[in-house]
Amino acid sequence: MTELRGSSGDASHHVLTRWFGTPDLHRLETYASKAGGYTALRKAMLDMAPADITNEVKTSGLRGRGGAGFATGIKWSFINRDAPGPKYVVVNADESEPGTAKDRYILENSPHMVVEGILIAAYAVGANQAWVYIRGEYDRPYQMLTEAIEEARAKGYIGPKPFGKDYPLDIRLYRGHGAYICGEETALLESLEGKRAQPRSRPPFPAVKGAWGRPTLLNNVETLATVPAILNMGGAEYAKLGTAKSPGTRLLTVSGNVRKPGVYEVELGKTFRHVIMELAGGPPEGRKVKVFWPGGSSAPVLPESMLDTTTDMEALAAARSMGGSGGVIVMDDTHCVVKAAHRLLKFYAYESCGKCTPCRVGGDWAVRTYERILAGQGSQVELDILQRVSDGLQNGRCLCGLGDSAGWVIDGTLRHFREEYEDHALRHECNVGKVAAHA
Ligand SMILES: Cc1cc2nc3c(=O)[nH]c(=O)nc-3n(C[C@H](O)[C@H](O)[C@H](O)COP(=O)(O)O)c2cc1C
Repeated sequence: MTELRGSSGDASHHVLTRWFGTPDLHRLETYASKAGGYTALRKAMLDMAPADITNEVKTSGLRGRGGAGFATGIKWSFINRDAPGPKYVVVNADESEPGTAKDRYILENSPHMVVEGILIAAYAVGANQAWVYIRGEYDRPYQMLTEAIEEARAKGYIGPKPFGKDYPLDIRLYRGHGAYICGEETALLESLEGKRAQPRSRPPFPAVKGAWGRPTLLNNVETLATVPAILNMGGAEYAKLGTAKSPGTRLLTVSGNVRKPGVYEVELGKTFRHVIMELAGGPPEGRKVKVFWPGGSSAPVLPESMLDTTTDMEALAAARSMGGSGGVIVMDDTHCVVKAAHRLLKFYAYESCGKCTPCRVGGDWAVRTYERILAGQGSQVELDILQRVSDGLQNGRCLCGLGDSAGWVIDGTLRHFREEYEDHALRHECNVGKVAAHA
């Protein structure tokens, strides 16, 4: 695994990465002495009622950083804390979205921040047991999280009486099964239970019937890692960062044709021009940005002309895309959008779990249609098929978002690069370097 470049730019707004770079931050002692670690957990357990913790998170306006951007405090309030029987916190550390490595960055730099966030969440929603479902390939993050949990256990933060309070807390790790679908929340729960990772139909949502049929709070690593800072600075103060509807900061993983790929903490509302051209150094010498995926490979693409779109979720929705997992993938003008879309569709078709028909069949249809187009056998019929398949994959027609993601790849690239598609399908040429389409 390559080392990830740290965040830079305007560090005054950094919430998550503020202490990154401090030697030995991954050790409990350093996290506590240099970064105020575990003060938020202490405050939560000794000075706050569980409902107040949830309210503080609501006040912060924090929204999930895993993909859908759902309001975190509201999700927490869906769990009936007083319901009898076990409740769980499940942490999504599967990080399977192409172009996304920010959870790994957090886990490798400050695993205790994640542990602290998990424990606060568990206490707030009335859970005693948390599970971290961590991507199977993530050896180093797994090791670091394991050590952090051991340290927190030795200190008593995990155990029968954290801070002397009669409220047992436990965290266990579960290594992921190596498929993209394992990151989808209900497929993740199936996998955690030892079954094949396939999504469940909803409702019921995990908050009502989650892991082992019990009320379950499921959040992304970054979402939970933000919680200690929110309790320390206060929800209202956090909400001053970012925009009114997308408050705070988030980690963007910038990859592809940029000079300084890496993970950058950005205040929401900054433009993609700032992120791509300034923080990540722009494309290599002599090249131009052609297209970028603003929120992982699932987010519909935006062309260079939309670089001034801002990173908040509302601006992205208005641009008919989304913030997703915060993976910003940049492609320069030496690449063909149709070939890139074909490559991605192969990924989505391969990763389809096969449980629902539109996704299982639609992905393969799209791949075969792209193959005809790229082999110089395309026509208007192929372009129409692509649009129809894309429509058939979206808007709740599939059991989970994997199908929508495949549809959005087609839809976004067709919307912004129709001419490039027509070059391939109708004129049988590739406009990138004007070579034969099937070369
Ligand atoms: C196919 C698919 C893959 C996903 N992969 C991830 C993932 O790797 N990590 C993640 O946090 N969320 C992933 N999600 C989103 C989760 O289903 C869920 O919305 C998220 O973990 C909720 O946490 P949050 O509210 O903190 O964002 C994925 C969704 C889909 C449809």
